[in-house]
Amino acid sequence: MAKIITNSLFLLLGALSFVATIQGQDQSGFISIDCGLPGNSNYTEKNTGINYISDAKFIDSGVSKTVSPQDKTTHPQYFTYLRSFPYGTRNCYRINVTSATRYLMRASFLYGNYDGLKKLPEFDLYLGVHFWDTVKFTDSSVSINYEIIHTLSTDYIHICMVNKGTGTPFISVIEMRILDNANSTYVTEDRSTSLARFRRLAFGITNLTYRYKDDPYDRIWEPYWDQKWTQLSSRLSNDELGQNAFKVPDVVLETSATPKNATASLDLYWEEDYHNNETQHQYYFYLHFADLRKLAPNQTSSTNITINGVFWATVELSYANADSTYSKVPWYGSKKYHISLFRTESSSLPPIINALEIYSVKDFSSQLETLKDDVDAVTNIKRAYRVNRRNWQGDPCVPNRYKWQGVDCSSFDGFQRITSLNLSSSGLTGDIPADISKLTMLKSLDLSNNDLSGTIPSFLAQLQSLEYLNLANNTLTGSVSNELLQKQSDGLLSLSVGQNPNLCASTSCNPQTNDTRKKENNVVIAVVASIAGILLLLVIIAAVIIFHQRKRYDAARNIILGKRRSSIKGSELESKQRQYSFNEVVKMTNNFDRILGRGGFGTVYHGFIDDIQVAVKMLSLSSVHGYQQFVAEVKLLMRVHHRNLTSLIGYCNEETNIGLIYEYMANGNLDEHLSGKANRGRSLNWEDRLGIALDAAQGLEYLHNGCKPPIIHRDVKCTNILLNENFHGKLADFGLSKCFATDGDTHVSTIVAGTPGYLDPEYTTSNRLTEKSDVYSFGVVLLRIITGQAVIMVREDMIHHISQRVNSMVAEGDITKIVDSRLQGDFDSNSAWRVVEIAMASVSAISVERPYMSDIVKELKECLAAELARKHNSCELQNEDLGWQGSLNLISSDMTPIAR
Ligand SMILES: *[C@@H]1O[C@H](CO)[C@@H](O)[C@H](O)[C@H]1NC(C)=O
Ligand SMILES: *[C@@H]1O[C@H](CO)[C@@H](O)[C@H](O)[C@H]1NC(C)=O
Ligand SMILES: *[C@@H]1O[C@H](CO)[C@@H](O)[C@H](O)[C@H]1NC(C)=O
Ligand SMILES: *[C@@H]1O[C@H](CO)[C@@H](O)[C@H](O)[C@H]1NC(C)=O
Ligand SMILES: *[C@@H]1O[C@H](CO)[C@@H](O)[C@H](O)[C@H]1NC(C)=O
Ligand SMILES: *[C@@H]1O[C@H](CO)[C@@H](O)[C@H](O)[C@H]1NC(C)=O
Ligand SMILES: *[C@@H]1O[C@H](CO)[C@@H](O)[C@H](O)[C@H]1NC(C)=O
Ligand SMILES: *[C@@H]1O[C@H](CO)[C@@H](O)[C@H](O)[C@H]1NC(C)=O
Repeated sequence: MAKIITNSLFLLLGALSFVATIQGQDQSGFISIDCGLPGNSNYTEKNTGINYISDAKFIDSGVSKTVSPQDKTTHPQYFTYLRSFPYGTRNCYRINVTSATRYLMRASFLYGNYDGLKKLPEFDLYLGVHFWDTVKFTDSSVSINYEIIHTLSTDYIHICMVNKGTGTPFISVIEMRILDNANSTYVTEDRSTSLARFRRLAFGITNLTYRYKDDPYDRIWEPYWDQKWTQLSSRLSNDELGQNAFKVPDVVLETSATPKNATASLDLYWEEDYHNNETQHQYYFYLHFADLRKLAPNQTSSTNITINGVFWATVELSYANADSTYSKVPWYGSKKYHISLFRTESSSLPPIINALEIYSVKDFSSQLETLKDDVDAVTNIKRAYRVNRRNWQGDPCVPNRYKWQGVDCSSFDGFQRITSLNLSSSGLTGDIPADISKLTMLKSLDLSNNDLSGTIPSFLAQLQSLEYLNLANNTLTGSVSNELLQKQSDGLLSLSVGQNPNLCASTSCNPQTNDTRKKENNVVIAVVASIAGILLLLVIIAAVIIFHQRKRYDAARNIILGKRRSSIKGSELESKQRQYSFNEVVKMTNNFDRILGRGGFGTVYHGFIDDIQVAVKMLSLSSVHGYQQFVAEVKLLMRVHHRNLTSLIGYCNEETNIGLIYEYMANGNLDEHLSGKANRGRSLNWEDRLGIALDAAQGLEYLHNGCKPPIIHRDVKCTNILLNENFHGKLADFGLSKCFATDGDTHVSTIVAGTPGYLDPEYTTSNRLTEKSDVYSFGVVLLRIITGQAVIMVREDMIHHISQRVNSMVAEGDITKIVDSRLQGDFDSNSAWRVVEIAMASVSAISVERPYMSDIVKELKECLAAELARKHNSCELQNEDLGWQGSLNLISSDMTPIAR
């Protein structure tokens, strides 16, 4: 320790008193972001004069929320709004900064019961790829902030909130201030480390907190006082007080503490704030003084300082000059720290102190970041091509568990580099992204199953590491360059360019052979080039056959789909027509003998095709809008297959008799079961309900994301969720509503407009049904699944929507009142809360605040897993003889919080 002591002392003397003007009082080095502030607005905060701007241009996820009304009035304006992140594990701000510059960064949080749950969340805060701190609250109405002094090497910074499964992350304010004097203030021994503020205290009998404009860097100085001290305070003019490089506010330097007992020491203590026993903090501390006691000529003011009883420094103060004594190397190794200041034998005056700053060291250098060029390239692609992947936030590669979906990385030369990019089936249109050329370490690139057009750019052949390139199933034109073909034939590159109808797989193709060759990918070409004779002949024959099949396929496809592209391609398209005559339908249904149900589209009958049960839905012709469109749509839907969608087996279409033939679902629809109308089967327990909700969500997610173009269901409701013999859910009646007339016929227009109670309220203003309209309807389905109650209820002449009822119950915080009482409390309350949360988010009035179906699927999966785990545990308990262990478990499971 002695070595540390001698090395660690550094005394910075105050500047001469005539250079006392404080600089940097403007906000030029400031970035002040009020997270969640709507629109692109800004305002000037009245106490500090700081201009806060909205976070809109720094983030594209999360939802804006406001704190409770009473927290709004008792906190500064920037705490009114916040941004909450109910979806996705990691959500990041990306903020442009000046690179190679040292910043003081502060992230502030006020929970303020913004979600009405009265449950303090806990989550992690990351600075770029580096763990910064765990955000923990002590009180709903007490704000907290985390500060770090960090030098940025890039011209942007990510600030990320990471969900740990202990509550929804959010953030209220982000502030960044450039700290100049980087060579003389807050310098760490290893310059690559950063300093996280632990305490910044101004000593004086005051309850005021000082920051900008008193502090040019907007450091926040908290008041601190001890009963053993007495306060010395005097006002000086600015010219009189000599500042030093730390630029501690005058108001802080004008007030100091000194021991009441002039011969006693002045003592400061703090304790290590271990998060866990892995990390032991290293500390830097900064003591600030300004002696405003006028000394007589025969007087001196001299103070010795010890740390944990060991001599550290002697400070000689001169009148009205700021002095700062601080560590040059970190202190560590103790659980408790004790700084003691006492007068030396020669000093005529007792010790004083004005302020103390304590920082802990954050070593961010060990975690490799992704090379900026790679980050910029994929970020540009994400923006320009609107890649809609929820976890494309923050650093693409690190930390590994938050790596972007479809991205793989390796480390080279001290950076993470992107080695694999999979953007297959991502709905990309336009040219192949030019930014890919910057991903120079790319080994594998998959752009298949998109709608990319234009030619194959030459830079793909320049990517030295590229070993796998899949461009299949796009609408690329031109030809494949000789360089790429050469690499392929040399065995250096696995290349797929098939299913690009207008792409020539060789530079030497000539117009006559185009037709045959362009249908084939160049695997065929390669074979042709290397094998002669009979093989060549065989290949040509094969090519001709495939060409003819392809032509038939194309012809059929054009009839069916017109110019529309479909993601469903391939040989199954060549399947037999599944059109049935009306006579066949009459036979199939035994002359419409048994009615299964009646819906908006028509009556549904039971039937058989070759011993297989089917459901036949007969429609009235008048409701069909445009015969051709109907047929095209039906043929398209016959090709949509997913285990959570009822399959359309065939159709009948003869004069006025239009029928749709679906697979038969033995257990009817979900609505019957929730309303207790179904007299078959069992009553639905929580696991059943979660399972069915997940099934329907997956079906809908497939329509939105698995189909190209996306299919909007437009009529998601409980009666359209059918249950098979195993109570697995399947979504019915998708994609059809657009076939029906939207005007003239009032009956039909209610079909198109969806079902009352399930209909997106935004639709009534925008008149545009989107995927988020389906999300709204699905949210209503979820609420009905949770509560078992009717969607619309009339009570005391007031119409209550299910979302209003649940919303008021959420505020009460008792999950048992929300969930269907028929379950008798037999469910995992955590998972129930999560389902309530996702349902309430889905029924947000504003569509952008609703989650995507993929978010909902993910959430429901986790909820179902939690419920299954709970059941598993309770089964184990029953099997054990209830010894000590068992009853202990029982207690802890009873203690799972009811309110969240
Ligand atoms: C603040 O908003 C006003 C318009 O309301 C705009 O003119 C101004 O540029 C904005 N200032 C900042 C810093 O964004
Ligand atoms: C950040 O900088 C990049 C270019 O480096 C620019 O494209 C982007 O618009 C900037 N973002 C903001 C919010 O200013
Ligand atoms: C700070 O120190 C670094 C290296 O010690 C030096 O390169 C740089 O010029 C210094 N900056 C100033 C403003 O003195
Ligand atoms: C702060 O101190 C002043 C003066 O002592 C007092 O009037 C005021 O109520 C105090 N405020 C708080 C929040 O304690
Ligand atoms: C003042 O402090 C000294 C040294 O700690 C101690 O010996 C003395 O008793 C104290 N006096 C009073 C009045 O507490
Ligand atoms: C912390 O220490 C306890 C025992 O002292 C040990 O059981 C535990 O695993 C440690 N935790 C970590 C994160 O190292
Ligand atoms: C300092 O000088 C004053 C007179 O100017 C005298 O009263 C006092 O005793 C002296 N103090 C010491 C410590 O010498
Ligand atoms: C104060 O520190 C000096 C060394 O700088 C030492 O000589 C002196 O004895 C110390 N005084 C006390 C009271 O510890």
